[in-house]
Amino acid sequence: MDKNKIVVTCPKGLTPFLRGEILDLSLPVLGESVAGITTEGGMNDAMRLNFHLRTGHRVLLLLREFYASSPEDLYRETASIRWEDYIDDNGYISVTSSVSTPSIKDTRYANVKCKDAIVDRLLAVCGRRPDSGPDRDRTVIYLYWKDSRCAIYLDTSGEPLSKRGYRKLPFRAPMQETLAAAVVMATGWSGEGSFINPMCGSGTLAIEAALIALNRPPGLLRSNFGFMHIKGYNKAEWDGIRASAKARPSGKLAGRIIATDINPEAIEAAGKNADTAGVKQYLEFGTSDFSETVVPEGGGVVVLNPGYGERMGDIDTLASVYGGIGDFFKKKCKGYRGFIFTGNPELAKKVGLRAKKRTVFFNGEIECRLLEYELYEGSRDPRGPRPDQAKSD
Ligand SMILES: C[S@@+](CC[C@H](N)C(=O)[O-])C[C@H]1O[C@@H](n2cnc3c(N)ncnc32)[C@H](O)[C@@H]1O
Repeated sequence: MDKNKIVVTCPKGLTPFLRGEILDLSLPVLGESVAGITTEGGMNDAMRLNFHLRTGHRVLLLLREFYASSPEDLYRETASIRWEDYIDDNGYISVTSSVSTPSIKDTRYANVKCKDAIVDRLLAVCGRRPDSGPDRDRTVIYLYWKDSRCAIYLDTSGEPLSKRGYRKLPFRAPMQETLAAAVVMATGWSGEGSFINPMCGSGTLAIEAALIALNRPPGLLRSNFGFMHIKGYNKAEWDGIRASAKARPSGKLAGRIIATDINPEAIEAAGKNADTAGVKQYLEFGTSDFSETVVPEGGGVVVLNPGYGERMGDIDTLASVYGGIGDFFKKKCKGYRGFIFTGNPELAKKVGLRAKKRTVFFNGEIECRLLEYELYEGSRDPRGPRPDQAKSD
């Protein structure tokens, strides 16, 4: 397969991080949207993207773009693709889509039309039709149809890359792995100083932090990807990608990674998840109120993701928790850079410190901010204006 257009999707707002990751892999950035980046390359590049990306969701390799103004157009154009080159007639396919066109009311109908075109073609050419259904663990085809513009992709990821495979036990309101990786990247932490994560829940931030600092690609944790179910899958190439990552020197942890939560069930889940991710020996877990978390000398990053009243916790209680985080920062975290990830700007004001920087993220549809506080060691007063004077976050 020669060079194709490749679209890498990501959660809304993560493109600045994804862009950096794609450039680091020496692939070009040809276009950018709010939830994806266009690059180009062959199947080997798609494999590398699947293996290395921390903030991407799906690596989509373009097969054909065309205009379609009816389901019949979609069927005809899709059936003219040489599916016998990509799919085993005794395989299993799943079609996913993003459809917004006046000629289709029910997205599922577009998926069925697309799937019919593929299996009918294979029946005609090979004498046999593959099975099909909703499972994404084998060959996945992605249909994009906006107005009259259609594009058909091989979804080389299959299951989204956010499913790293280590989170067997999600505790309440876990952060998606891709978002957690981007939050760690936004803190600028990559192994120097300590990484302190009170309110760690299922441990996603601390685990992603360890994977980043140790220079471990997330693809090492997963054994199944969509590209493995596409004809011509080059296993030797894939083994080579994995082997060269394993041969690379491991990153260094100069400080400690400490993760705590008030709920012992959360800590149990986080410990098991860290174990599955292969980083448990680098993490120190503890059950405690956030304010009791050990913060070692030497500086680093302290990140908290408290509830923000959407799914858990009640606003009045949370207001005093946010105020307590401000006190914790002032009393125990001098010399650190403090971060709060929250979707509630009103609660953020209760922290009582002036945020130096605000980075916008989306947790699903909820607009969130990563607020950064510089917690000076010396005589500078970190409090900034009183809460009633603080800028709206
Ligand atoms: C939004 S969740 C964090 C989710 C986490 N980022 C993850 O990926 O799983 C908030 C966590 O704060 C914990 N928590 C609430 N109040 C706390 C307190 N006073 N001290 C420590 N942890 C607390 C809860 O048990 C919960 O696990």
